[in-house]
Amino acid sequence: MAGRYASPGGREGSGDLSESEIAVHWAEEEYLAPPAELARTANLRDPGLLERFAPSAFPGCFEEYAALLTWRRRWDQVLDAQRPPFYRWFVGGSLNVAENCVDRHLATAAERPAIVFVPEPEGEPDVVLTYGELHRRVQELAAVLRDDFGLVAGDRVTIHLPMVPELPVTMLACARLGLVHSVVFGGFSGEAAGHRSADCASRLFVTTDGYWRGGRVVDHLANLPSSMEAARADGHPPERVLVFRRYPDRSLSAERLDPSRDVEASVALARHAGARVEPRAQPSDAPLFLMYTSGTTGRPKGCQHATGGYLAYVTGTARSILDLHPEDVYWCLADIGWITGHSYIVYAPLALGATTVVYEGVPAQPDPGRPWRVAERLGVTVFQTSPTAIRLLRRLGPERPREHRLRFRVLATVGEPIEPEAWRWYYREVGRGRAAVVDTWWQTETGGILCSTKPALDRMKPGSCGPGAPGIRPAILDEDGQEVPHGSGRAGNLVLLAPWPGLMQTIWGDPDRLVRQYFAKYNRDRSSTDWRDWPYFAGDAALIAADGYVRILGRVDDVINVAGHRLGTKEIESACLTVPEVAEAAAVPVADELKGRLPDVYVALRPGWAGSPQEVEARVVRAIETSIGKIARPHRVWVVPDMPKTRSGKILRRVLAGISNHRDTGDVTTLANPEVVAQIREQVDRDRGP
Ligand code: WTA
Repeated sequence: MAGRYASPGGREGSGDLSESEIAVHWAEEEYLAPPAELARTANLRDPGLLERFAPSAFPGCFEEYAALLTWRRRWDQVLDAQRPPFYRWFVGGSLNVAENCVDRHLATAAERPAIVFVPEPEGEPDVVLTYGELHRRVQELAAVLRDDFGLVAGDRVTIHLPMVPELPVTMLACARLGLVHSVVFGGFSGEAAGHRSADCASRLFVTTDGYWRGGRVVDHLANLPSSMEAARADGHPPERVLVFRRYPDRSLSAERLDPSRDVEASVALARHAGARVEPRAQPSDAPLFLMYTSGTTGRPKGCQHATGGYLAYVTGTARSILDLHPEDVYWCLADIGWITGHSYIVYAPLALGATTVVYEGVPAQPDPGRPWRVAERLGVTVFQTSPTAIRLLRRLGPERPREHRLRFRVLATVGEPIEPEAWRWYYREVGRGRAAVVDTWWQTETGGILCSTKPALDRMKPGSCGPGAPGIRPAILDEDGQEVPHGSGRAGNLVLLAPWPGLMQTIWGDPDRLVRQYFAKYNRDRSSTDWRDWPYFAGDAALIAADGYVRILGRVDDVINVAGHRLGTKEIESACLTVPEVAEAAAVPVADELKGRLPDVYVALRPGWAGSPQEVEARVVRAIETSIGKIARPHRVWVVPDMPKTRSGKILRRVLAGISNHRDTGDVTTLANPEVVAQIREQVDRDRGP
């Protein structure tokens, strides 16, 4: 294998910052044995699995996942890899996702809760949607989409909704008709949602009046005008807007609707009460949804996921890695607006017929005992959240899990590296040492979990996510495309050597970008039709120990992972440049005890600005919140006299990241303006104090 993968021009963006450079390194940890009970009850307790998913069994091994679904027509071919890296899975097959997630459970489980919505205000009762009730709601909404809006298979729908039950219902109604949904995280600004809507020329935009977050009502509808303005400016305003209400009898927003465009969901739904809409079978490779994510260049890109391969992969991994059974009450404390929520709050748990919890608010509201009260009350058996939430709950209420009767069998984490101390608290205090902890590594682009231990089969090692999931072949390549051997202690670029059914199909409207960003780095021969010549470049630095366990260090590109949410430095920087006084901007990650990373922003002003730096700082923060959202709020904005630059004029973010993190900046003598580095360092150190 060595030398097979060529890297043309060295690391993309080299000279710029690399998160792995500031990653925390820790020593190898002791193994922990999987809980004994899981060896008797887990879905995956048969070590024969390793053989069934061995490289020699590729790609047929993934039929085991496809077989978990109900197909209208069985596939003729498992994998069509004639045109790498554009793969087609379960070719010739057809199925409907809503039918798999709802209808097929009715015969045996119509009364079982499918979705339990837990409002943030603790006094407010849960909303329980049984599979029967979900079936009714999905059909009524599908009738609105089809009959009132005239949407047809392949049309795009942008859904800018927070964590409310209408969000999964809308996704499933789209899936029922073959509409392609694009959910935009509710915390993104109106403008961000509008640009995403226009990028895929959505015909319909779905929103709501408001929701609870952090003990307060958020006026969500206030975002709508800027969404529409942004979509119009991009040339693709949606034709119609569907507006849900958080409460049936009052509005949480003063925003007025435009009667020629906007439709009250309650009114439309009432007209279709009791409607029957049959699920429309879709070809396996029809797109199911788009999910926009930040990458190396400015604009967020729409990762397009397929119907059959995606659903098979997330269902298979939820069964094997999360060990979901139909009897489970499963709570993934994440947001449906991110890929984790799509795959493991909505699609996989419902495809498996389990009960999935949708929680409206923030974890520690009103206090850090909240998640454990909810888990005890609902009898949650499988739980998943981010390391940021774990660190927060541990810091605010380390003893709180002990006050409750918790019955967790599997505890999952996702989104960022988890420190061994936080891992151990999760294992000991939340799981009482009786639950398996699975640290799951994957990405928006990959659809589902790629690296993790298998709860009943693998020993756990805090800080390492584990080996490749069944059928997945992670490897570390160096800059020259040489494979770094397991156990060498050397880090490099994490790649996947073979495709899998959950891999995105393409980037919406920009297939070249799929090739450029994920495959160009290690592909030597663009004309090769052998998938072995197309390793998937994940954009993460990692190392693999002698036991085959992968340890993720962090991003190697211009992505800042804030509390498990991906933000592009370029997006933050272009937001800064909308402030007229700002001439140049650079965003770099600064390590944060709770959130992992936060963006630090440096701006240099146009000559002649006479106002105060505080004034500019406030405007920069506002600009970032307007164009991206509050999640991108910088840790600090530093107004600096000039940016450290190379002689060719490139801003050296690596140097700024060094200053922000109080680290060595490396050799700066070859810069065009080395003196500015000392000036900025002094400014930052002075302000932060000793
Ligand atoms: C990071 C989230 C360490 C990684 C599912 C990846 C992780 C990015 C882990 C994808 C993990 C995700 N350990 N790092 N278990 N899981 N990451 O697209 O840098 O929002 O590339 O998908 O999060 O973030 P995304």
